[in-house]
Amino acid sequence: MSSTESPLKGLRIPAHIAIIMDGNGRWAKQRGLPRMAGHRAGTENIRAIVKECDAIGVRYLTIYAFSTENWTRPSLEVQGLMQILGDFIDRETRNLHEQHVKLQHLGRLNGLSARLRRKVQHAIDLTHANTGITLAVAFNYGGRADIVDAVRDLMTQGVGPDQINEQMISDHLYTREMPDPDIVIRTSGERRISNFMIWQAAYSEYWFTPVLWPDFQPEHIHQAIRDYGRRERRFGGLPEQS
Ligand code: IPE
Ligand code: IPE
Ligand code: MG
Repeated sequence: MSSTESPLKGLRIPAHIAIIMDGNGRWAKQRGLPRMAGHRAGTENIRAIVKECDAIGVRYLTIYAFSTENWTRPSLEVQGLMQILGDFIDRETRNLHEQHVKLQHLGRLNGLSARLRRKVQHAIDLTHANTGITLAVAFNYGGRADIVDAVRDLMTQGVGPDQINEQMISDHLYTREMPDPDIVIRTSGERRISNFMIWQAAYSEYWFTPVLWPDFQPEHIHQAIRDYGRRERRFGGLPEQS
């Protein structure tokens, strides 16, 4: 039994946690370091959070790493973030595979270089039959692009306006193989969703923390889950007691 099981005993564990990993730049600035040092520290942090989520029984973890809007950052930072994704795959894939983690990518792969696309595809193919936690990396991801791409797919298939329904759209989003997130966590004190999972998070619980992503610890996951356990999800219905 892992040492983390007891503090969460009896609590409802979300099947899918999605995290907007924000605050790398401010973390670096606080230390007088370049922004890239913050991105590197943030990336280092992912391993421990995946491990913890897996240990407590979370089945899907999505991490928002690069948005369709992040292309507007200075090109050196964009290049640095591309490099970091490649390095992350090179360094972590074997270890994640050994832990039975299944890797997925959410977003537009065709916006990435051919080399990076090959790396991402290799990691997905290598881990596709794994039965542990699914780690979905949202990279070049935008919630609006997600919906546009789903609609394009449906139109290409010749689906007509009177046939279309919500389930069909859900089934064509990048997340089609995953349940909707139960809880969306955002670090760094910002309280907005920044084009993240705008369809899928329609009924998610939100949990905000001022902690900057490189400082985010397994204990913060526990806090979020304890808070989540106290909330009543209604999905438009009435409270359970009424
Ligand atoms: C989050 O950290 C990572 C990405 C968006 C790529 P930021 O780079 O947004 O950090 P802040 O918000 O400037 O502190
Ligand atoms: C959201 O963070 C995107 C990621 C964490 C990848 P941003 O830092 O880009 O969001 P805004 O610009 O503050 O809304
Ligand atoms: Mg930010």
